[in-house]
Amino acid sequence: MTRRVAILISGRGSNMASLIEAAQAADLPAEIALVLSNRPDAEGLERAKDAGIATLAIDHKAFPDRESFDRALDAALNEHDIAFICLAGFMRVLSDWFVERWSGKMINIHPSLLPLYRGTQTHRRALEDGVLVHGCTVHFVVPELDAGPIIAQAVVPVVPDDTEQSLAARVIVQEHRLYPQALRMICDGMARLQNGRVVFARGWDAGGTLHSPSTHQ
Ligand code: GAR
Repeated sequence: MTRRVAILISGRGSNMASLIEAAQAADLPAEIALVLSNRPDAEGLERAKDAGIATLAIDHKAFPDRESFDRALDAALNEHDIAFICLAGFMRVLSDWFVERWSGKMINIHPSLLPLYRGTQTHRRALEDGVLVHGCTVHFVVPELDAGPIIAQAVVPVVPDDTEQSLAARVIVQEHRLYPQALRMICDGMARLQNGRVVFARGWDAGGTLHSPSTHQ
């Protein structure tokens, strides 16, 4: 069964592009049926149009409060018969009402190994703390920000001369791999939300341990 998926963005939309590419390569039992932005000037909207995807901008500034914006969002998603939402750099906090309504049907990608570094400036904070592994997380969305049950994570090393930019560049490559993989797991029924936890359909061999710095002599 092909799921009709909406991607919500606020900016450049590179994760959106990786999801569109995976869906168009028939890698995913999902159709990206809509790309929606709260910012009419989001770069990603043009990229989505170029890929032949329906786009919509709903400017949050045109609404008196969070809930009325979220109601407009919900109406647009229903109009497009959307079954599943991927947040991809959507930098707007959603109301509890909206999150509850889409519970188990909305996922997000975050540029850190949650539960570390919720919120913004994740790469800068990782460097400040001197952690030697960092990464990204795909999780179900719950009312608390960046706190939902985890579906998939990718880990990258932090190396001595890293800057915020070099670390961000290493992480985003993994984001582009991880997000389509996580969406596939959900569409295939390999991962689902049950009683506030992610239940995985099959076990797998995680392949040992990652050491950073590498322990190779
Ligand atoms: C990505 O790094 C994503 O993980 C992050 O915003 C960036 C969007 O880039 N999301 C968050 O920080 C959400 N809390 P993109 O528009 O190129 O996909």
